Amino acid sequence: MSLATTIAATALVGLFTTSAVMIGTTLGLYGNLSKKMLAVMLAFAAGMLISSLGLELAYEGARELHNRGLAKELAWAFISGGFATGAIIYYIASRFLDRHGAAVRSPTRFREYVLERQQEHVQLLGKCDLLRHLPAEGIQDLLTYVRPRQLGAGEILFRAGDPGDALYIVARGRVAVLQAPQGATSGEREIAQLGEGKAFGEMALLSGAPRSATVRAVTDAELLQIDKDDFEQLLATDHQLAAGLRRLSHERAINNLTASGSDRALWTKIATSSLDHPGRRQADEILSKAGHGAGLAIILGDLLDTIPGLVVVGAKFTSLATLSVPVMLGIFLGGIPESAASAALLRKAGFRPRSIYAFWSITLIAGTLSAVAGKVFIGSSDSLLAVFAEAMAGGSLLALVSHAMIPEALDQGGSLVVLPTVAGFLAALYLILSHSLV
Ligand code: CMP
Repeated sequence: MSLATTIAATALVGLFTTSAVMIGTTLGLYGNLSKKMLAVMLAFAAGMLISSLGLELAYEGARELHNRGLAKELAWAFISGGFATGAIIYYIASRFLDRHGAAVRSPTRFREYVLERQQEHVQLLGKCDLLRHLPAEGIQDLLTYVRPRQLGAGEILFRAGDPGDALYIVARGRVAVLQAPQGATSGEREIAQLGEGKAFGEMALLSGAPRSATVRAVTDAELLQIDKDDFEQLLATDHQLAAGLRRLSHERAINNLTASGSDRALWTKIATSSLDHPGRRQADEILSKAGHGAGLAIILGDLLDTIPGLVVVGAKFTSLATLSVPVMLGIFLGGIPESAASAALLRKAGFRPRSIYAFWSITLIAGTLSAVAGKVFIGSSDSLLAVFAEAMAGGSLLALVSHAMIPEALDQGGSLVVLPTVAGFLAALYLILSHSLV
C-alpha cells in the first residue's frame, strides 16, 4: 500500500471505531435500550480490552524490544514504564478535568464528584459549633439545604434593616458584625468578628424582624448558606437545632458566641462516613451547576477518553486485510454504552442535543486524526520512543477501562456484569491466540 492509501485506510478505521460515540449518543438521547443491555456490552468491551492490551500491546511490545537485543527484564521494565506513565497521565488529567465540570459526562464520575463536593461541605459544617449538636449520621438531610456563597474582602453581605432571607455559616475567612449605637441610624462600629464555624443571621430568621446588624467580609470568605424556607423546614423537623439557635440568638444579645465542646474531627469523620448517595434534589442542583460553563472540560474529557485508544488502533493498523480486531472492537463496543449514558446525563445537565452531538463530532474528528497520528508516528516508526508512546497509550486506555468502563458497567448492570467481562476477555484471547495453538 502506498503511504497515502495507508493513511486513508487508517483514517477510515479510526472513523469507524470512533463512530460508536454517535450511535451511542443517538441511543442515549432517543433510543430506549435497556440499561442492563448497555452494561453487558460495556463489560464485554472492558474484558476484551484487558486481554488484547495485555497481549497485543504489552507482550508484543516487550517481545519486539527483546528481538531487537534488549534483555528480557529491561524490555518488560520499558513497557511497564510506558503503561504506568500513560495511566498516571490519564489519571491526573481526568481528575483535573472532572473537577472542572467534565464529570457530568459520566454517571459514575459525576457521583464521585458529588460525593467529593459533599465531603468538602461536611468538613466545613463540622467546623460549625451549632451544627455539631446534630447527630452526624443525619448530615445527609442537612446537606440538601446547604449552598456555598463566596464573598470578597470588604464586601457587604447584608445591611441592618434588610429582611432576613438566610442563615449563614462561615466556612473560610472572617466576617465583621457592625451595628450603629443604640438609637442612632449612622456611625456603625464593629461589635464582633466571626470566623470559621460561626453561624450568623439567625436572629432575623427566628424573630421575623429585620437584620439587627450589618455583616461585612473582613477577608475573602466562603459561607455556607441555608435559605429561609429551607431553614424553617429544618427547624420544624429538628428540635435540637431550633433550641440551639434560640440559645445562640439569646446569648448573642449579651455576649459573643462561645465554642461548643464537641470534638470537631470525630464529628466530621462520622458525618463523612454517613454520606451515601446524594439526595436527588442536591444531585440535580449540582449537575446543572457543574455542567454550566463546563463545555470545554467536557470536550477535553471526551478527547482524553478517546485519543489513547485510537492511537493504539492506528499504531496497530497494518492493512485492512489484517485488521487487529480485538482492540478496535473493544473500543467500538465500549463507546456505544459510554456515550449513551453520557448523552442522557448531559441532557439532564441542561445541554441541548445539538451541543451534545457537537461535542462528539469534535471527538469523532480527533479520534480519526489520532488513529492517523498513531500510524504515522508510532506504527511506522522503529524508535524506542515510539514503542514507549504506544505503551503509554495502552496504559491510558487500561486506566480508562478501570476508571470508567468497569465502574459504569457495574453501576448500570449490577454484579452480573462479571460474566460478560470474562466473556469479552476470552473472546479477545481467542481472536488473538487461536492461530498460535498447535
Ligand atoms: P441577624 O439579626 O439576622 O443579622 C445580623 C446578625 O449578626 C445577627 O442575626 C446575628 O447572627 C449576628 N450578631 C448580632 N449581634 C452579634 C454579636 N454580639 N456577636 C456575634 N454576632 C452577632
